[in-house]
Amino acid sequence: MATAAGNSVKADLEALFRAAIGAAFPALPDAEPMVAACNNSANGDYQCNNAMPLFGRLKGKEGAPKAPRDVATAILAALPENGVLASTSLAGPGFINIRVAGDYVATRINNMLQNGMGVWAPPLPGPYKRVIVDFSSPNVAKEMHVGHLRSTILGDTICNVLEFCGADVVRLNHIGDWGTQFGMLIQHMGEVTPGGLDAAGDQDVSDLMALYRASKARFDAEEDFKLRAREAVTRLQSGDEASLAAWRRICDASRREFNAIYSRLGVTLKERGESFYNPMLKDVVGELKELGVAVESEGATCVFVEGKEVPLIVQKSDGGYGYASTDMAAIKQRLEGEGADWIVYVTDVGQAEHFGLVFAAARRAGWLPKDEKSLEPPRVSHVGFGLVLGEDGKKFKTRSGDVVRLVELLDEAKSRCADTIRARREEAGEPIDEAELEAAACAMGYGAVKYADLKNSRLTNYRFSFDAMLDLKGNTAVYLQYAHARIASIVRKSGADPAALLAEGGQVELKHPKEVALGLALARFPEALEEMLQDLVPNRITDYLYSLSEAFNQFYTECKVVGGEEQTSRLLLCEATARTMRKCFELLGITPLYRI
Ligand code: ARG
Repeated sequence: MATAAGNSVKADLEALFRAAIGAAFPALPDAEPMVAACNNSANGDYQCNNAMPLFGRLKGKEGAPKAPRDVATAILAALPENGVLASTSLAGPGFINIRVAGDYVATRINNMLQNGMGVWAPPLPGPYKRVIVDFSSPNVAKEMHVGHLRSTILGDTICNVLEFCGADVVRLNHIGDWGTQFGMLIQHMGEVTPGGLDAAGDQDVSDLMALYRASKARFDAEEDFKLRAREAVTRLQSGDEASLAAWRRICDASRREFNAIYSRLGVTLKERGESFYNPMLKDVVGELKELGVAVESEGATCVFVEGKEVPLIVQKSDGGYGYASTDMAAIKQRLEGEGADWIVYVTDVGQAEHFGLVFAAARRAGWLPKDEKSLEPPRVSHVGFGLVLGEDGKKFKTRSGDVVRLVELLDEAKSRCADTIRARREEAGEPIDEAELEAAACAMGYGAVKYADLKNSRLTNYRFSFDAMLDLKGNTAVYLQYAHARIASIVRKSGADPAALLAEGGQVELKHPKEVALGLALARFPEALEEMLQDLVPNRITDYLYSLSEAFNQFYTECKVVGGEEQTSRLLLCEATARTMRKCFELLGITPLYRI
């Protein structure tokens, strides 16, 4: 095997070691190769860790090896002829350290340059065609807060990666557009609008926050208003036209606010709010009861799940349906109506318990496979995330103590970036095109907000800090935007056109150790995505992107690109780096800049 046959370097190494293990130990035909990247690149690029576990399995058998090192030696002796490995060495009790051949890595990069980044898309972790991602999902009439921003950013990246890897992705916005809060909103609106609810117009919902606050204050303080609000819910749910019209107006006003955020972030979602499932609730609860999954308890209808203290309440004692009822209807509709092979829910970790119950109930109803670890479709995953905190490590609030409005947050990121870019250009005496500067500031500012969120392991809480996210050095989007723009400018200033170089048969060759290291970093792209998909952890991509830019810096410090004998190969290596960085940006929902 001289060329790149598998989807990644790791896949090619696995194929080689699978063959070697099979040949050396025919008694263990099911042994899976255990190949991993070396933690310390001084020892090797990859390592094979099979010797110890295989030794354990062979122990006591006839002709068993005496030590794990003997197992490793036997595997090495059985390796088929190949062009992948430059060298191997034995370490410790039997680890096999691997150096990958520069020519082999170059083949992978040339293949990508000729055929596009698509050749580096790894396979999905299971046989899934249609994947539904439920994310963002703010609540009508309430402020979209930083938690929803986090869900939006994480969800979008997850969708982008799934799509890149060939899934047919449906991005669903499970907006909280139904429920008891509408009773108080509509009742209050009717009472304070001259002429009553029938006379209410768009102007009455123009300040939704104020409407929400005022009606909530009355709901909490006035006993008889509370009663009237409850009756208003019943009227709405029984289809009263004036109530429905008011409900629609409130939803429209919220929708306009949400869409303003989505369009800035460049995120598209299909709205499918809780109200969509309303007509299905009665039947779903009926089915769960019939199946014996749900039972009556203290007047309510509940699903009890082993090992969980609280049940899932699918119908309240007053006959009403809540958040859990809707999620049961939604999961069934998505599996049966939408034919989902995998459903991914992106919410704060606080909802892990809720989704654990929903999934368990759906398994008992037979809508999902019994085995929760199985990767066979249909599969469900809850992607939880931690809190966004203020710089002081406390709840994220404005100085006056109000919730931070997302629009203002994005405005500030953008205007700070506009200042930086303007100052840089003025200093360099470059002309300023206001429209272009505005677009660059958006790309940089919104990108910085997204990156600062995505680079954290999603389960941890993180502190929101403009200074940290806009730092020109370190693992920030701003630094990486500069790094990318610099590579683009190296290629641009050389006067060569990468497409023309490729058309003329130009190729990447990896000779200098820093060229090989950069090449290897590039070739690891599919592995980073594969790991990201395994646990749905976008920070795997940000870590990868940052390490790639470091590998590029080391290459660029030691290797002359323009003017040397290796000019064509090195320019193409720059081009491959820029393309890979851009693909990462794209997956992270960040618009790359070619010039800053
Ligand atoms: N609206 C909910 C919230 O703001 C999130 C909904 C998540 N999706 C779901 N299917 N429950 O917390």
